[in-house]
Amino acid sequence: MTDSNITSGGLTAPRHLAIIMDGNGRWAQARGKQRVSGHKEGANAVRRVISECVRLGVKELTLFAFSSENWKRPALEVNALMALFVEAIRKESKNLLKNGIKTRIVGDKSKFPSILQSQIAKVEELTKDCEVMTLNIAANYGGRWDVLNASRNLLKDCLANGTNPDDLTEDDISQRLNVISNVDLMIRTGGEQRISNFLLWQSAYAELYFSKTLWPDYGADDLIEAIEFFNGRERRFGMTSAQVQAKGELNAD
Ligand code: IPE
Ligand code: IPE
Ligand code: MG
Repeated sequence: MTDSNITSGGLTAPRHLAIIMDGNGRWAQARGKQRVSGHKEGANAVRRVISECVRLGVKELTLFAFSSENWKRPALEVNALMALFVEAIRKESKNLLKNGIKTRIVGDKSKFPSILQSQIAKVEELTKDCEVMTLNIAANYGGRWDVLNASRNLLKDCLANGTNPDDLTEDDISQRLNVISNVDLMIRTGGEQRISNFLLWQSAYAELYFSKTLWPDYGADDLIEAIEFFNGRERRFGMTSAQVQAKGELNAD
């Protein structure tokens, strides 16, 4: 599996794109509106970006919708976000299926209202055989939680199977994460330059792109700009530039 192998319009799409969708609150506040209206407009940006990713040939898209730390926000905002998630899944399920998008909600789902949990189960079941693109919606997700959860499961398996801890590999953790594949490009919108506990393990070698655009304004042009940046990077994975180039020539033969 290569990390970026599908071209469209001269661009090479990252295989796995991850986006920290930030700036909804500021978008609303700049218009004298409630923060919630920024989240509502953000849902339209989600729709735009998903269809553009399909068009560009992205194989896996992981969107940060709600972090494990976002419960600290005012109850009014948290409740509105939960209601928006329920509505978005209900409204979009058929379209996701029609477009071949395997949809998964990644995060600790046990904390969600039961109506949301059942909507999630429905869309995951409905789209489970889709193959055009995998969409991971990270909700009540934290990178540290993901590693902790994987470690817990690994420990249980080790105890059950009598595995020697010295025999464990990085793969034993990777395979138990909620999101398994490595991120090729991580975008954060809204101007902040931090990871905020997103895919910590999976982004070990991700290229990072920070956009000033607030999420509700984010669209195809912004995405293309980020992918152009990605295409201009030399991904060395610890090697020297000369080694990477020699390897590229070898692969091209
Ligand atoms: C991101 O936008 C959406 C969520 C975290 C749910 P914010 O709500 O963080 O927007 P800002 O950063 O306050 O502008
Ligand atoms: C990160 O954004 C989480 C999501 C985009 C869902 P935040 O707005 O919560 O991040 P911080 O608190 O500014 O780091
Ligand atoms: Mg924010």
